[in-house]
Amino acid sequence: MELFLDTANIEHIRYGVRLGVVTGVTTNPSIISREGKVDYQKLVKEICSIVPGPVSTEVLSLDAQGMVTEAREIAKWAENIVVKIPASLEGLQATAVLAKENIKVNFTLCFSLNQALLGAAAGAAFVSPFVGRLDDIGEDGMEVVADIVEYLDYYQLPTQVIAASIRHPQHCLTAAEIGAHIATVPYNVLLQMIQHPLTDIGIKRFVDDWNKVMGA
Ligand code: G3P
Repeated sequence: MELFLDTANIEHIRYGVRLGVVTGVTTNPSIISREGKVDYQKLVKEICSIVPGPVSTEVLSLDAQGMVTEAREIAKWAENIVVKIPASLEGLQATAVLAKENIKVNFTLCFSLNQALLGAAAGAAFVSPFVGRLDDIGEDGMEVVADIVEYLDYYQLPTQVIAASIRHPQHCLTAAEIGAHIATVPYNVLLQMIQHPLTDIGIKRFVDDWNKVMGA
């Protein structure tokens, strides 16, 4: 399973790439706005230059034609750009048009297998089920991810599943177990994934044992 960072913070992205584990980035209007009143295009282009793989950024239009116009512009920003289109009827129409133009679409705000299968049928390169937000309303977000993975696999469709709205390391673990192609994780979750108290205790013990005998 690949790991993307779900952030637009340049420092966090640089660090994730330096760790050798972050291969892509996902953003949305809320994530971009967390960086303050920025030059949107400049920020996304900078992210695209840091990250080796796909960088998803979202349209703001609500109608299909507006989404297509916006997406065509965004697609010119970088080679590795992916345009996020919401899983609405308008979004579906836009996805169909953009896919035919070979513009990569991340079909986002996906909360059901039906939405995902429609996105895949329209030609989306990625579908993004929002796990945490489903959990928030008492549903099982990972069950939806598992259903989508199984469906795409059964019909051998090329669309990749990005487990999104990840809230904690357990989500990453489950996403990997059920075969999600990608998990897009917030920066704090990426840092939590490496943590284990026995590793810290082990490192300290090795140094202490060494110093007891070899130390001055
Ligand atoms: O990748 C989607 C993600 O940004 C949504 O996360 O935490 O706002 O539900 P969240």
